[in-house]
Amino acid sequence: MTAARLVARCVRGLEPALGTEILRTRSATVDWIGHREVGFRTTTGSGADDEVRLRTADDVFLLAWRRDDIGPHKSDLAALADMTRAVDLKRLARERRAHGGPVRFGGIEISASFLGRRTYNRYDIEDAVGRVLAERAGVPYHARRHGEPPPPGHSGWRLTLDGTHATLLLRLGRRPAHRRDYKNATIAGTLHPPVAAAMAQAAELLPGQRVLDPCCGAGTLLIEAHHTVPGTTLLGFDLDPAARRAARQNAGPLPVTVERGDAGALPVADRSIDRVLCNPPWGEQVDAGGRLAGHPERWWHELARVLADEGRAVVLLPEARGLGHALALGLTPVHVQQLSLFGSRPLLVRLERQRARRGSRARREVEVG
Ligand SMILES: C[S@@+](CC[C@H](N)C(=O)[O-])C[C@H]1O[C@@H](n2cnc3c(N)ncnc32)[C@H](O)[C@@H]1O
Repeated sequence: MTAARLVARCVRGLEPALGTEILRTRSATVDWIGHREVGFRTTTGSGADDEVRLRTADDVFLLAWRRDDIGPHKSDLAALADMTRAVDLKRLARERRAHGGPVRFGGIEISASFLGRRTYNRYDIEDAVGRVLAERAGVPYHARRHGEPPPPGHSGWRLTLDGTHATLLLRLGRRPAHRRDYKNATIAGTLHPPVAAAMAQAAELLPGQRVLDPCCGAGTLLIEAHHTVPGTTLLGFDLDPAARRAARQNAGPLPVTVERGDAGALPVADRSIDRVLCNPPWGEQVDAGGRLAGHPERWWHELARVLADEGRAVVLLPEARGLGHALALGLTPVHVQQLSLFGSRPLLVRLERQRARRGSRARREVEVG
């Protein structure tokens, strides 16, 4: 079987994490990393084992075709229809099945986006391509221009015009990859699961480690940590009973302990936690409560207190300001990545106790010397 060509799409800023996750499957090579997408090809071909599960992806697609972007005039849409007439639907159906996707097309629904000024809109693009696909597959076409959601069973297609390339994609699964079966209970400010997965991967977890989320909300970070590396001990605190209920419901039978606790005074021993994962309540959607209200420095102080000497924290912050507290407490930001997430620009920050470690080694050397 020849290698299938795929495209995974993600939150802006997670492209390096997604590229790394793809390479870590050891069954794919990366072709390109672009704006919110990574092009890759699978290197195996044995059937059911080829199922693609990428936790940092918003969506995973098979590449139907990729060509130079078309011009800005409505008459240029004919070129997209022509390309679509040449799509090898049988090959796509075969590859989708081999990668764990549904067998039939059911119906066609397509979502288009473009950059730059054009005399056509997204619905014109969708109709130009979607109608050809439906006719060729012998199934109904569902137009999005009327705002109705597509009936179940339709295959999801995506067309992007980014100013350089025009790309047509077929979704691998029945639904977008960012949806999680576990996430049935939610709260305001809950984290987008692919971002939580990227944070868990950045933490470089090891089985047996103690992982803490001091403001766990609906439990997304702890649950993603479990799916990233099973066998860690997962502990979450939150002041809000509704958040704790949501976390327990989402975690179900997973080994996640959720307790009432104030992240400004945690019932956790000094230096006892290997990894902290958290998006603290500094955002627009959730206010800090309890001892954190008006005192964000207490959150940083508790982080520094509970983290073990070789510990690491991966946190999502709305701005860089709090990092001053981290540095003052001996926590070094060793990696900072800006994301673009539903209109906000948070920072994904990895912190280590490096300075303190170097300092203590230096002190030991002084003492020995
Ligand atoms: C941004 S949300 C976390 C979302 C979570 N990561 C998720 O995926 O659902 C912040 C959480 O901090 C909690 N919180 C606010 N003040 C707190 C405090 N002093 N101690 C513990 N939790 C607190 C809120 O109840 C809220 O659930």
